[in-house]
Formats: sequence, C-alpha cells, structure tokens
Amino acid sequence: MREEDLPQVVAINRESFTTDAWSESSLRKELTNKLSRRFVLVEGDRVIGYALFWVVGEEATLMTFAVKKELRGRGYGEYLMREALRRLSGVKKVFLDVRKSNLKAIRLYRKLGFKLLKERPSYYSDGENALLMELKLEEV
Ligand SMILES: CC(C)(COP(=O)(O)OP(=O)(O)OC[C@H]1O[C@@H](n2cnc3c(N)ncnc32)[C@H](O)[C@@H]1OP(=O)(O)O)[C@@H](O)C(=O)NCCC(=O)NCCS
Repeated sequence: MREEDLPQVVAINRESFTTDAWSESSLRKELTNKLSRRFVLVEGDRVIGYALFWVVGEEATLMTFAVKKELRGRGYGEYLMREALRRLSGVKKVFLDVRKSNLKAIRLYRKLGFKLLKERPSYYSDGENALLMELKLEEV
C-alpha cells in the first residue's frame, strides 16, 4: 500500500465499516508506522481490497481488511488474505478481532485456518462482542 493507493483505500474502508472506520489521517499514519505491514490487491490503477497488519516480533495482528463492496463474493478477499499471510515473513501467529455478527468474514477466517480463542464482551463501541481468532502460520 503506497501513498497513491490511499484515496481508494480510504473509500473502501469507509464503505465497509461504520463505527469502526479508520480516519484518513490514521490510515495515512500507517504509511510510516514501522510496525505496520500493508497490502493492496490491485488491477491496473484500481484497488480491489487491502489488508493491514501490525507486526511485533513473531506475532501479527490484522488491524483492518476489506474488499471493495461491488467486487465482493468473487474470491478476491480470500486471495488477498492468503497472499498477505504468505508475505508476512518471520511471523508465526496472526491474531484478529471480528464482530460476532460478521458471518462472512468469520467463514473466510475459518476457511483459512483461524481458530476461535475467546469471545470479548462489548468489545465494540456499539456494545457488540468480538471474537478473538488466532492462526498458527505453518498451517496455512
Ligand atoms: C470479509 C470480506 C473481506 C470477504 O471478501 P470477499 O472478496 O467478499 O470474499 P471471497 O469472495 O474471497 O470469499 C471467501 C470466503 O469468505 C466467505 N464468504 C464470502 N462471502 C460470503 C457470503 N456472502 N456468505 C457467507 N460466506 C461468505 C466464504 O467462506 C468464502 O469462501 P467460499 O466461497 O468457498 O464459501 C468482505 O466481505 C468485506 O470486505 N467485508 C466488509 C469488511 C469486513 O467485514 N472486513 C473484515 C473485518 S474483521
């Protein structure tokens, strides 16, 4: 994810998340955050989706991930996540939090091998619970 991808990433983030959307300035800060690993799936100049992780030592946390609304359900999200995980060199464990109601994402994460670690009550500002999931990377 480079500076020139940012406007499209911001737009995808905005259409994908309501209360949990990142501001443009917080996404911009990621471009210089040494902990952050950022991926975009592009076709020509068009950004199809993005995934952003924070990596500390051998552990990564998926911070935000989305596919452009009109292009969902075509395999792009799975492709992007598999490729991103493959490129997280040195990482052994990946964690993520997902809304309990986000069944599409949960299904994708399970397909990739993520396992439920625990449920976090009222994790989101609207009171919804999160599922904390973990992937041991050798298993991908
Ligand atoms: C989650 C998201 C990234 C998936 O991207 P996508 O490109 O639509 O997903 P894919 O087409 O690659 O589908 C991969 C798998 O996801 C699951 N999935 C995707 N769409 C689904 C749907 N409508 N219903 C149920 N499961 C679905 C399935 O397991 C699917 O595999 P399958 O086709 O073999 O059943 C996308 O829906 C999105 O951007 N959602 C909004 C943002 C979001 O929720 N991000 C995750 C926050 S933690």
